[in-house]
Amino acid sequence: MRAIEVPEYGDAAVLTPTERELPEPGPGELRIAVEAAGINFADIMQRRGQYPGGPAPPYVPGMEAAGSIDAIGEGVDRSVGDRVVAMTTGGYAEYAVAPAGAVFDVPVSMSFEEAAGFPVQFLTAYASLFTLGDLTAEDSVLIHAAAGGVGTAATQLAANANATVFGTASTSEKLELADKLGVDHPINYTETAFDDEISNLTDQSGVDLILDGVGGATTTASFDCLSPFGTLVAFGAASGQPGAVDTGTILFNNASVYGFHLGQSMQHNPERVLQSVPELTELLLDGELSVIVGETFDLDAVEAAHEYIEDRRSVGKVVLQP
Ligand SMILES: NC(=O)c1ccc[n+]([C@@H]2O[C@H](COP(=O)([O-])OP(=O)(O)OC[C@H]3O[C@@H](n4cnc5c(N)ncnc54)[C@H](OP(=O)(O)O)[C@@H]3O)[C@@H](O)[C@H]2O)c1
Repeated sequence: MRAIEVPEYGDAAVLTPTERELPEPGPGELRIAVEAAGINFADIMQRRGQYPGGPAPPYVPGMEAAGSIDAIGEGVDRSVGDRVVAMTTGGYAEYAVAPAGAVFDVPVSMSFEEAAGFPVQFLTAYASLFTLGDLTAEDSVLIHAAAGGVGTAATQLAANANATVFGTASTSEKLELADKLGVDHPINYTETAFDDEISNLTDQSGVDLILDGVGGATTTASFDCLSPFGTLVAFGAASGQPGAVDTGTILFNNASVYGFHLGQSMQHNPERVLQSVPELTELLLDGELSVIVGETFDLDAVEAAHEYIEDRRSVGKVVLQP
């Protein structure tokens, strides 16, 4: 089968189209004939060798794959031909194997490209907003990179919960999308300091919840616009630097800081994240939410696809098609 390999850590040019043996599903697993593979920012950090616990080269990247079930391992109650999306490893390929517990049905009304943008971003957004962040209609939330993958999912979910949504992005085009998806207060952080802007907009009281997938200086400034008793959920470091937490600041403000990692949650407590799937599926079917697919690339154009995300040109989800 055709697959993309990372033969060594490096920039996007290391991504190499190659031929690999067809993977066989073991007990409790199934194989998917991949129609669309989601690209995640973590794929980029893993490729650079910057991801703690990431795979060692050579490996096939890709943690999300949508398509039809093609082969079934022992003990799996599924049918060949079912339309599914899975959290997997080796998704940048024509075929990928996944554990049956990380496979979700794809309704016929949803394209495989949309399905490939569902699991990682929506499960992360839901857990950060509601399971950890306890967001309600009375609350305000700041979503960094609101036009990004997790950002577009989180923005829609927060708006659907009738919370007051603040969202940051780096361009007016991205902010237009964020606005359309439900951001009440779009902020271009390249033109104005987002913490000052939020302090002004909230009469110095700050926001109740912050979703931080950027880290670094963004995290530090976020604590300056978090309300007393507020919560920051850290789930990523797109800036390349994890954020620093000053315990003096958080104790003085009675603030809470949570971390969220989908892969570790699926390994140690899958029920905690998977509890949101029925609600998310219903919202998607009702048209209350949509998966924003910003761009699709042919599998062999994966180098350009990674660069597109790294150059911060992407919105929503970027998808590969084998
Ligand atoms: N913990 C988990 O389980 C989990 C799950 C999914 C994602 N994540 C993490 O969450 C973050 C967002 O993931 P995503 O897939 O949704 O990505 P994304 O939002 O589609 O892309 C990252 C965005 O971050 C912003 N950004 C800020 N500083 C950046 C920099 N120095 N370089 C590149 N981008 C920068 C950019 O938006 P602007 O141009 O608008 O600033 C960019 O578009 C990533 O750190 C990812 O690893 C974690």
